[in-house]
Amino acid sequence: MTISLDAFFSSTADTPIAKFHAPLKMALQEHYEAKIHGRTSEWDQALASLPVANFEHIDLSQERVTIPLPSGWQLDKQALKENLMAFKPWRKGPWHYLGIDIDTEWRSDWKWQRIAPHCTDLTGRNVLDIGTGNGYFLYRMLGAGAKLALGIDPTRIFLYQFHAAQRLLAPNNAHLLPLRSEHLPAFGCFDTVFCLGVLYHRRSPIDHLQELFSYLRPGGELVLETLVVPGDKYTILVPADRYAKMANVWFLPSTEALENLLQRVGFQDVRTVDINQTSVQEQQATEWMTFHSLEQFLDPNNPELTVEGYPAPLRATLIATK
Ligand SMILES: C[S@@+](CC[C@H](N)C(=O)[O-])C[C@H]1O[C@@H](n2cnc3c(N)ncnc32)[C@H](O)[C@@H]1O
Repeated sequence: MTISLDAFFSSTADTPIAKFHAPLKMALQEHYEAKIHGRTSEWDQALASLPVANFEHIDLSQERVTIPLPSGWQLDKQALKENLMAFKPWRKGPWHYLGIDIDTEWRSDWKWQRIAPHCTDLTGRNVLDIGTGNGYFLYRMLGAGAKLALGIDPTRIFLYQFHAAQRLLAPNNAHLLPLRSEHLPAFGCFDTVFCLGVLYHRRSPIDHLQELFSYLRPGGELVLETLVVPGDKYTILVPADRYAKMANVWFLPSTEALENLLQRVGFQDVRTVDINQTSVQEQQATEWMTFHSLEQFLDPNNPELTVEGYPAPLRATLIATK
């Protein structure tokens, strides 16, 4: 079984996105419906065992995206926790889910706190989040006033995590489509495009920046967060093999080199608004993500370096206008 994505199509039927419904449906047919993940039936079963509700309110005032346990609800908390654990690894969060704290690998709220103050006010904006993960940031974007928060992410388990939350909520304007950015049409209509933690995974970074450009309306804003390295505008690190044990890292520019690339692609008013060295408090293994994490990716004798001897993860946020 595949999770239904009908809510996205019905809630965007009267928006400028409707004219892209046909290519999106074709992409979903090819890359989602026709490709069944080996763990689908296990995940379907776990999802079906979670409660369903129609809560209008989701508490976004705290670090955790919080769906509180309503008074009067009797739940077997241990069973609920085991059910949610079926969707491990939980990487992005934290969440509070009907009385259960989901302590994810990442403190994504820290990233949001670094980024949000620099963005143009999201009130009333149509927002696209490329590589959204499990949708944690989509709720943050709605909480900041976005009219529509559309996330794109091909990793199937994250779609299940997102729907674990969605099945408790009344119809809302957060949506996740299990696609890659390469599968998207050139929308040309989004007010803000977020691309957080994805650029370094792309083999062809300039093509990726052009894709991001194509999703925005003229005057729209790109919020780009990625791994960078210290250096001048000519510095770009292409790891010989792995970077911080990740096999799929291709391209780590300096902030100056990245600003230059964004300008070459056609962006204006390009600026670096934040630079932050990732700490082992922000990215760490938890009971919800039990694989190795940042601590194991760093040189045990020198936390300024990865185990491969490259500069340790440094993340920058850049903002630019189309
Ligand atoms: C490092 S995580 C970043 C998640 C989140 N944006 C954040 O900043 O915490 C990278 C995410 O990008 C997704 N991803 C990888 N390649 C992608 C692509 N071509 N298009 C869209 N998403 C992609 C992965 O599935 C993963 O969830």
